Amino acid sequence: MRLLFLGDVVGRAGRLAVLETLPKLRERYAADFVIVNGENAAGGFGISEAILNELLDAGADVVTTGNHVWDQREALVFIERYDRLLRPLNFPAGTPGKGAGLFKAANGADVLVVNAMGRVFMGDLDDPFRAVDEALTACPLKTGADAIFIDFHAEATSEKEALGHFVDGRATAVVGTHTHVPTADDQILTGGTAYLSDAGMCGDFDSVLGMDKDEPISRFLSKIPSRRFAPSKGDATVCGVAIDVDDRTGLARAIGPIRLGGRLSQAEPAFWRQDVREEDDA
Ligand SMILES: [Fe+2]
Ligand SMILES: [Fe+2]
Repeated sequence: MRLLFLGDVVGRAGRLAVLETLPKLRERYAADFVIVNGENAAGGFGISEAILNELLDAGADVVTTGNHVWDQREALVFIERYDRLLRPLNFPAGTPGKGAGLFKAANGADVLVVNAMGRVFMGDLDDPFRAVDEALTACPLKTGADAIFIDFHAEATSEKEALGHFVDGRATAVVGTHTHVPTADDQILTGGTAYLSDAGMCGDFDSVLGMDKDEPISRFLSKIPSRRFAPSKGDATVCGVAIDVDDRTGLARAIGPIRLGGRLSQAEPAFWRQDVREEDDA
């Protein structure tokens, strides 16, 4: 089976690009299951119920989040009505919503999605390593789930790599989010888990992390906030990753970056194109 993941959707530019691209990607590559990080989808800060529904209607099976999950306060309430919206697993006990769930993919497979958040440079949370470990113990690969995808929303690449190796062989994929910048370290770890430090954002890269450049530059220069951060409005690059899953083991056979549209160099995983050719030949 094939998993598709798209990184943090930032503002209207990111949203429009994802809404336009995702249905085509889903169909063209017969993705069985799609996860999208929506923590910056509403004006760069959080997610609204209407935007969540747009992403689900466009073909996201699950929407993950991160530190910005509650920026739109309504999310504290509507998250309880949406099984397919996750917030970080290691938030304090009693936090609304949940951080992991088992979902049915298009091919009938059961996919466990875990959304965890790092602590390095990010503030105090429960230990993400132990929280992820508990989620994997409760629902192990093959006996509990046919595939396991972990969105690790974290700042430090060291913490991300460590978590990848910590669950190597027990999860299908660990993909990082939050930095909004795609990394080029996609690989299959020695135990068979696909890994990428950061998927990058779905947003306008003529920006500082998806926001209009002027205010961030001014704050670095003067340390005086002069206006709110606003999402950059130019053409967005849709950034993500595709994972080919070995249906026998639930581990990864291949991983490859996706970057479509906007300013970044374009990328699509070779194994997706190859499969399309094989289908065309048949
Ligand atoms: Fe983000
Ligand atoms: Fe974040």
